[in-house]
Amino acid sequence: MANKGDADYVLGTHDEEVARLGLQHRVWRPIAADCWRRAGITIGSRVVDIGAGPGYATVDLAEIVGASGEVLAVERSARFLEVALSWKSPGKRARRAAFRRSAFDRPI
Ligand SMILES: C[S@@+](CC[C@H](N)C(=O)[O-])C[C@H]1O[C@@H](n2cnc3c(N)ncnc32)[C@H](O)[C@@H]1O
Repeated sequence: MANKGDADYVLGTHDEEVARLGLQHRVWRPIAADCWRRAGITIGSRVVDIGAGPGYATVDLAEIVGASGEVLAVERSARFLEVALSWKSPGKRARRAAFRRSAFDRPI
């Protein structure tokens, strides 16, 4: 049974939504990367990714900040966290990323 965090996400947390978020991420990736660069995110930065979903942006951010930086991903869905933690090949990229359940009590 889905927990509250999974049930609350309006688009669901099933495989199709994981794939849709992946497609969305690939489409917007160059623009997101430019925003992060202009925001000053670089090697050694410490970043919080709130509402990280399955972690697509998280692993990109982890790659940017490198071994001297840190990315903390906050995601309330146990299902999305499970997917984020299951990435195998990007494991090296995600090494600097830590995933946590949200402490917030309201959806964002
Ligand atoms: C549109 S998705 C974004 C996914 C991800 N950022 C990406 O780029 O693929 C919004 C995410 O915010 C999460 N979310 C909503 N309320 C939250 C809260 N209070 N704390 C943590 N995550 C939350 C949802 O579970 C969902 O995964």
